[in-house]
Amino acid sequence: MESQALSAIAAAATVTGLEEARVRFLGRKAELPQALREVRDRETGMTLNALRDRLEAAVAERRAAIERAELDRTLREDSVDVTLPGAEYPRGSLHLITQIRREVEDVFLGLGYEVVDGREVETTHYNFEGLNFPDWHPARSPLASCFFDENRLLRTETSPSQIRVMETRQPPIYIVSLGRAYRRDTPDATHTPIFHQVEGLAIDRGITLADLKGTLLHLMRALFGAERGMRFRTHYFPFTEPSMEPDISCFLCGGEGCRVCKHSGWIEMGGSGMVDPALFEFVGYDPEEWSGFAFGLGLERIAMLRHGLPDLRELWHNDLRLLGQF
Ligand code: DAH
Repeated sequence: MESQALSAIAAAATVTGLEEARVRFLGRKAELPQALREVRDRETGMTLNALRDRLEAAVAERRAAIERAELDRTLREDSVDVTLPGAEYPRGSLHLITQIRREVEDVFLGLGYEVVDGREVETTHYNFEGLNFPDWHPARSPLASCFFDENRLLRTETSPSQIRVMETRQPPIYIVSLGRAYRRDTPDATHTPIFHQVEGLAIDRGITLADLKGTLLHLMRALFGAERGMRFRTHYFPFTEPSMEPDISCFLCGGEGCRVCKHSGWIEMGGSGMVDPALFEFVGYDPEEWSGFAFGLGLERIAMLRHGLPDLRELWHNDLRLLGQF
């Protein structure tokens, strides 16, 4: 019986086959356990117990061998080919406006400017009075701007940051402040009620219009190419005197005249000027000692010009097919 059992155990090739053999020789109803139950003398008992121990040991050993073999097989068959290309995960990217914002910040950090935050919820004090806006100015109308109450509104431009900075520091000051501005414009291809501006302010001794022009030219060349030229058109802003709008020579036609520059050879870029001494008096600087320039440009405008965007509203739709192109 022992040799029969041992060869059955040895012959089992799977865990199930081994279990069958075990039940056949060691199960409750098998010959050996039954004999053990009937044993009356010590000698026979010891012999049969020893036999059972040997068979159980053989089963355990065989089980371990089978399991090892099975594990080996699974490992072999399930092996991973690490050279196969994996599933590709789509990669995100920064929003176009964020990219341009960072690019402009980098240009000014390179010039030694500091980037400061402003507030999107402003008081009329900073949004208008501090910037020398007259009482009758149309931007003060609730039809033009988004008011919370009589004294608070969503800033209509980034210029209030100028006042907040001047109020808390002494010159020299070289800062840019970039962020959102809000106006009650009906959205169309070139207007959205929320848009982004870069505000710049430089105050020092002996700052002149030439500094303003040189600084803006440097920015425009960084954004639109080294061959860009610049010109100023006189304009009016309540917080600068004199005020001018900078134009750059068209980067598409180089000044010949084309659709982008409306056949003028020049492209409008925003507003700028020499800080009005009224602002200095408002924050307590001596206008005899200090002078400065300021400018404000739209980031959407830069994006539109650089990429030929036909419709600014697209920037708000968050369609990855569009945003992924930049
Ligand atoms: N705040 C003006 C606007 O939104 C732009 C501007 C013009 C900003 C002249 C300035 C500036 O700092 O000096 O239309």
